[in-house]
Amino acid sequence: MPVDLKNVLDDIARLHQEAKDNINRADSLQTLQQLKIDYLAKKGKVTVLFAKIGQVDPKDRPTLGEHLNRLKTEITDALQQRSDELATAQMAISDFDPSLPGRKPSVGGLNPLLQVMDEIKSIFIGMGFRIEEGPEIETEYNNFVALNMPEYHPARDMQDTFYLPNKYLLRTHTSPVQIRTMESQKPPVRMIAPGRCFRKDTPDATHSPTFHQVEGLCVDKNVSFADLKGVVQAFATKLFGNQVKVRFRPSFFPFTEPSAEYDFSCVFCNQKGCRFCKNTGWLEISGAGMVDPAVFGFVGYDPEVYTGYAFGLGVERVALLKYQIDDIRTLYENDLRYLEQF
Ligand code: PHE
Repeated sequence: MPVDLKNVLDDIARLHQEAKDNINRADSLQTLQQLKIDYLAKKGKVTVLFAKIGQVDPKDRPTLGEHLNRLKTEITDALQQRSDELATAQMAISDFDPSLPGRKPSVGGLNPLLQVMDEIKSIFIGMGFRIEEGPEIETEYNNFVALNMPEYHPARDMQDTFYLPNKYLLRTHTSPVQIRTMESQKPPVRMIAPGRCFRKDTPDATHSPTFHQVEGLCVDKNVSFADLKGVVQAFATKLFGNQVKVRFRPSFFPFTEPSAEYDFSCVFCNQKGCRFCKNTGWLEISGAGMVDPAVFGFVGYDPEVYTGYAFGLGVERVALLKYQIDDIRTLYENDLRYLEQF
């Protein structure tokens, strides 16, 4: 007994209506995708109806085939149309124009000061120095007294200091890390201490109330001024190349004896004279000297057995030279257009 054509056509009509309703209600591309599966996939509601073709009277088969094909086409078209509508609506909402060129993500970088700090550190690590740290808020004792600057010492005035209550202060140099290190370690000591320092300077092209130093300290038996000169020269060469010369000038610091200030030959003009070296051919870097025996007294090292050298390094100075910057204030402004050049 063949299946009645009319019943199948009724099924087709119902399915058509149902599919149209569902498709028009669909509010996402995922829902549409699911509907496509529900109706048109291998086991979908439309597909299975095709099996009925073989079950109706042979004379009705062409009619049924025609109806089924039309149903399939109409559902396919409806799905496509709804999908286009949704895409257009989505675009209107997000204002998304896929034809626009992409936006490059901005990648962060290190401030030139930090880059120089890292370079200085790795040079000294390569020469066997360890890295030590100390706090930016220091005691008067570590910053001055133990560095052979008692309360009445004029050098305390020289370094215009930010004093805090209770004999604390913002460290005016990294030298107090010498004291901390020697108090906590027995010789031999070979360390550098990079860090931020503070002085009451009015900002200008070469001064800033916050700045950075790298302290160096080496204490052992038989350490001499020649070792100090060798290490500073090796450092200068690693940083600026073979042609750079180092010069030591006699100077005074309460915590070193003898004391010196040292300069690098001007890396810009090769000592022909330029605005960076103010036509002297030399660039001041910082101070250095042999650790004063009085300092050893404060930290309990035997000055009869040990000698040592210490040096400071102005990091901003080095950054200026390295990157040919002529105003240290630019290092702190964090202007991206500027920083991106390094
Ligand atoms: N602390 C000194 C300064 O800030 C530099 C220095 C360090 C001098 C070590 C001698 C030895 O100017």
